[in-house]
Amino acid sequence: MAVKFSAPVEREFKEILSRYPHKEAALLPVLHLAQREFGVLSDEVLEQVAGLMDLPLSRVKGVVSFYTLFNTREVGRYVIRVCHTLSCALNGAEQVIEHIKNRLHIEVGETTPDKKFTLLECECLGSCNTAPVMQINDRYYENMTLEQVDQILDSLE
Ligand code: FES
Repeated sequence: MAVKFSAPVEREFKEILSRYPHKEAALLPVLHLAQREFGVLSDEVLEQVAGLMDLPLSRVKGVVSFYTLFNTREVGRYVIRVCHTLSCALNGAEQVIEHIKNRLHIEVGETTPDKKFTLLECECLGSCNTAPVMQINDRYYENMTLEQVDQILDSLE
């Protein structure tokens, strides 16, 4: 089924395009806009974006698959990404992941039945000196302890 931006988002799309000298340079912000509008970057949404951006679908899919912040399937309201790259791994990322799994009763890659939380592992979040690092939606949480994980999840539940 074809998808379409709402009128306000269509205006935002045009405003984003006006900020870039070349249409393709606006692809990342347009994908963020599409994700905000539709929640998930499904094949139908990516076809819509490719059409709007005059790009091959394969190019758009390639970009989406490169960045972990783009969701190509349903996720919860809060997407928890725990870095498991070297610095974080050496500073307790695995314990953080296990703690969240036990607390939310889900495995990595799963979403809670109430669609509130999705737990994901990710590669380096670029803040290795404050490992272990966790990201929930757009916000970073650094130097994580298990107590802090609980406090954060408490505040979101
Ligand atoms: S290794 Fe985790 S933020 Fe870089």
